[in-house]
Amino acid sequence: MKNLPIFRNLAIAIIALASANSVFAQTLTSNTSPIIKQNAITNDVHLSVHKDPNCGCCTAWIEQLPSTFKTTIRNTSDISAIKETLGVPHQYRSCHTAISKAGFIFEGHVPNTAIHSFLANPPTEALGLAVPGMPIGSPGMEVGDKTMRYPIYQLNKDGTQIIYAHANGKNIVE
Ligand code: CU
Ligand code: CU
Repeated sequence: MKNLPIFRNLAIAIIALASANSVFAQTLTSNTSPIIKQNAITNDVHLSVHKDPNCGCCTAWIEQLPSTFKTTIRNTSDISAIKETLGVPHQYRSCHTAISKAGFIFEGHVPNTAIHSFLANPPTEALGLAVPGMPIGSPGMEVGDKTMRYPIYQLNKDGTQIIYAHANGKNIVE
């Protein structure tokens, strides 16, 4: 419901415009709803996030996502079973596993910008992205202002991996 004030303002603006211009009002009702248009513009990302109910950093990762990320939380006490099913290799695992609407996997504390760039242009051979372990300063793993450089891996459907990008803190770096 984070977007509610935006929609309310949008609704007020539409009402104001509609009363000022009935032609506009007609066009609006015959076309897509303003909410659907809003979603298209903001490019919402829908993730279902599998996590252990007692793990705090998973929640911290979810909470740092911008409001354009819509999450469904799936608590489970057997998180490794999901990783096994999805084919996330042992050494690339972290705590939570997020799955996009299209079925791409985002394992661990993957920065938002990497998720956006991956989903904008997903490589055909890719299963998703992974940040193994818990790098200090990665999103949801803040420790004061400490950061470290860490790799973001692309997991491939054939079981191989390549480095997708490097990050430092929340940012993609060279
Ligand atoms: Cu974690
Ligand atoms: Cu966690």
